Amino acid sequence: MSDQPRTLVTCALPYANGPIHLGHMVEHIQADIFVRAARMQGERIDFVCADDSHGTPIMLRAEREGITPGQLIDRIWHEHRADLADFGVAYDHYSTTNSEANRELTHRIWHALVARGATDARGVRQFYDPAKGMFLPDRYIKGECPNCGAADQYGDSCEVCGATYSPTDLRNPRSVISGATPELRESIHHFVRLGTFENELRAWLDDRRAAGGLQPEVLNKLAEWFGEGLRDWDVSRDAPYFGFEIPDAPGKFFYVWVDAPIGYLAAFRELCEHRGEPEAFVEFLRPGPHARMVHFVGKDIIYFHTLFWPAMLMGAGLRTPDAVYVHGFLTVGGEKMSKSRGTFVNARTYLAHLDPDYLRYYLATMLGPTLVDLDLDLKAFEERVNSHLVGKFVNLASRCAGFIHRHFDGRLADALPEPEAGDYAEAVAQLARVRQLYAARDYAQAMRRIVEVVDRANEYVAARAPWAIAKDEARRAELHIVCTQAIALFRLLACHLKPVIPATIARAESFLAEPGGFARFEAADVPPLGRRIAPFEALMTRIDPKAIAAMIEASKDSLDDPPPAAAPSAQATPVDPLAPRPPRTAAEGHSATITIDDFAKIDLRIARIVEAEAVPEADKLLRLVLDLGSERRQVFAGIKSAYDPATLVGRLTVVVANLAPRKMRFGISEGMVLAASDERAGPFLLAPDAGAEPGMRVK
Ligand code: 2FM
Ligand code: ZN
Repeated sequence: MSDQPRTLVTCALPYANGPIHLGHMVEHIQADIFVRAARMQGERIDFVCADDSHGTPIMLRAEREGITPGQLIDRIWHEHRADLADFGVAYDHYSTTNSEANRELTHRIWHALVARGATDARGVRQFYDPAKGMFLPDRYIKGECPNCGAADQYGDSCEVCGATYSPTDLRNPRSVISGATPELRESIHHFVRLGTFENELRAWLDDRRAAGGLQPEVLNKLAEWFGEGLRDWDVSRDAPYFGFEIPDAPGKFFYVWVDAPIGYLAAFRELCEHRGEPEAFVEFLRPGPHARMVHFVGKDIIYFHTLFWPAMLMGAGLRTPDAVYVHGFLTVGGEKMSKSRGTFVNARTYLAHLDPDYLRYYLATMLGPTLVDLDLDLKAFEERVNSHLVGKFVNLASRCAGFIHRHFDGRLADALPEPEAGDYAEAVAQLARVRQLYAARDYAQAMRRIVEVVDRANEYVAARAPWAIAKDEARRAELHIVCTQAIALFRLLACHLKPVIPATIARAESFLAEPGGFARFEAADVPPLGRRIAPFEALMTRIDPKAIAAMIEASKDSLDDPPPAAAPSAQATPVDPLAPRPPRTAAEGHSATITIDDFAKIDLRIARIVEAEAVPEADKLLRLVLDLGSERRQVFAGIKSAYDPATLVGRLTVVVANLAPRKMRFGISEGMVLAASDERAGPFLLAPDAGAEPGMRVK
């Protein structure tokens, strides 16, 4: 085995309660480019990730969907893994934090912290939802801001005046889950006393400052946090909680942020075991220069990765992170991604419309080693990809390959043109710098340099004009070497673009008949003289602006759209915001006539609303749980503007019971409640006369 250090590279583990979106992709693409480039430099890299599968939001979402958390995280794991793979992010292993390997490592680290005397337990007073029977995380409590009085503010901060506070400061607090007024209750919580590790953390920081691995902005932030003093970290949550139970503490669970980073190691352990080299994992854990651990994370989770995570590892005597590379957030069109504007784009929606290499390249032109935010400017995206990749790079090959096939049987010349021989060497030297820029995560500079080399190569072709030379039979040898020079430069550029646009370069490798593909950057230092290449086929097509528009349209949150236009006369309107508009004739505003058989197809039932809550992410929606007599159903209804959820609980209404379930972003809607509305007012929920019982058929 080589004695080269072995580097484990990770991205922050995506939560298993929602889809991967373009915001996530910044990080996964940044890390994937880093890994691919490092491998092309001959480094030994293992690249792992996993779903972050524990915590309250996952537990509650599974409950809303009427499935177990295990079923939910399994479904999402498949989606996440496919999204990332289809973007060309080549993880060696993609795991979940809800694994035996992770439970075992979490226990091991916890026992070590306890043995070290770095833990503590004490009573904590916290809001409790008496209706739901659980303690409430801050985000699940809403009320009036204690500072400005704004209604409907979360338990940790006010979106109107920006004040931060604790949930107990809120006026008229209520549980977002049940609408009940929360009660303060005390419970025992477990803590990690971060102060225990202050000296070790400071030494780790000094090492990182000397050896690299933390950006200046991060070092400054850490200095600030040390200045404020390291506070104890509350690492336990009370049942019900979806996570790992704390050993010897029944009913207490590890807070999701304890086992999430340990999931990096558990994923790597699984990888080593799958490869039949479990000892490699044991070796890796041992501190020392024989291995490295590198994390890519967003700027919102620096504290977790530079204080809590190293402290846990120190407590257990394990390797600490060698680098934590932090990036900024993604904006679209200069603004926060927005569901109503259609700029909150899920990975799968992007993939349905556009080539992943487009985004990989565009992000590479923006990514540097700093924490600044990146903007996806859709016009710049289209223009840059079309100009750089299609207009300059692909064009370099496409305009010369034909001559090689037409006149030289697809074979490149045995020599480069004499006067320009230096050009190839110069391009090699220019691109050697690109390799360092990848390692320094300065992809923006790397892409600029690549574009410079492409421009020079195209200038060369334009100056030599092979299309003119081709007209003269006597100049065949000249034509051959000019086109060979162009193809050789294209190959050199392709090799250096491979970490960024791997799928496109895989096609270029076939065209260039590159044996085994470019495994190393050096592979292209020597031109492919005398080689027979394949006929040229389109490597990449231009971005069609219509595809971008279609992607944005598909990302628009139809849940936030205005409700269907109502007929002039009051009528029962389905309060399902995704429902198609009911057909109606323009003249009278009445629906087309149907037969009694048509009507009989609709299974209308009486239902009792047993739970009602606002969907925080949707302007118009309430989530209802309905009792239909023999079963319970979850339904999303667009009646938030007219009803306080608390007043709905216990009421009877009418539900379309045989409507196909519909998957929404928040869960599955299994029916539709009926309400009346028109331009004057509404919606008004339908209700039966006294005596009706849940489950009765309406006919
Ligand atoms: O912020 C997040 O999305 C977390 N799920 C990241 C976890 S990273 C790690 F520690 F596992
Ligand atoms: Zn406020």
